[in-house]
Amino acid sequence: MKNPPEHERTVGSINVIVCADAQSASQKAAELMSNAIRSRPKIVLGLATGGTPVEMYRQLAKMHEHDGLDFSNVTSFNLDEYIGLSADHPQSYRMFMQQKLFDHINIKSENTHVPDGLAADPQQHAKEFEALIVKAGGIDVQLLGVGQNGHIAFNEPGSTADSRARVIELTPATIQSNARFFASADEVPKTAITLGIGTILEAKRIVLLAIGSNKATAIHRALEGKPDISHPASLLQNHDDVTFIVDESAASLL
Ligand code: PGA
Repeated sequence: MKNPPEHERTVGSINVIVCADAQSASQKAAELMSNAIRSRPKIVLGLATGGTPVEMYRQLAKMHEHDGLDFSNVTSFNLDEYIGLSADHPQSYRMFMQQKLFDHINIKSENTHVPDGLAADPQQHAKEFEALIVKAGGIDVQLLGVGQNGHIAFNEPGSTADSRARVIELTPATIQSNARFFASADEVPKTAITLGIGTILEAKRIVLLAIGSNKATAIHRALEGKPDISHPASLLQNHDDVTFIVDESAASLL
C-alpha cells in the first residue's frame, strides 16, 4: 500500500518531514532507522520509549521478520529508566523495550542497554552508562520523542545543554502524563535516570518522532522558539543533523 504524501521542509537547521497521519509518520521513522541499519550493520542506536515509538518498533519488527532486517550486529542504548522499577516490572522501560522490540528481532541481549532502575547508586550508574556509550563509539542515530513540556528523554525544563547522564526528579506534568501507563499517578516513580542533553547532542544524527495535536505546541516551540532551557527540545537547534518526523496534527502550529 502506498503511503499518503509527505512533505519536507527545513526550519532553521532542522529537517522536518510532515506525514499525513500517525501511521505514515511511524512508517517513515521505521524506514529511516532501517536504512541506517542496512547501511551500517554495526550501528549504535539510541532508543526511546513512550507511546510514540510503539508503532515504529512494530514496523521494524515486521521488517526483521519479512525483509531480513538484521539486528545481529546492532548495539542499543536507551535514554532513560524509572528509579525503583526492576527490569521485569511491567512499566519499566527495560520491559517496554523487550516487549515492543527486542523480543521480536535478532539483537543480542548483551548488546542492549537500558539503565538499571534498581542500581544501588543511581548517580554512579548514570555516569557508568554514559561511559559505556563512549566506549561503544558514541550513538550513530538517536531516536527521540518529546514531552508536552518539551522534555527530551527525562531532561525536564531547566536542564542545560551541557547536562550529562544523571538522576532527575520528574515534574508533576510528566508524572501526570505518564500516569496513563500506571494504575494511578501515585504509582509513577518520582525520579529517573536519564541521559543528559549534552549526551544526546553528541549523537551523530538525531531523529525526533512526534505524533498528535497534544505535541503541536512542543513541536512549534522546539522549531520556531529561541533555543532555551525552558524548552529542552529547542536545544536540538544546536545540532547540525536533526530530523523531525511529525504527523499533520503535531505540525499544525508550524
Ligand atoms: P510519549 O512520550 O511518546 O508517551 O508521548 C514522549 C516523551 O515524553 O518523551
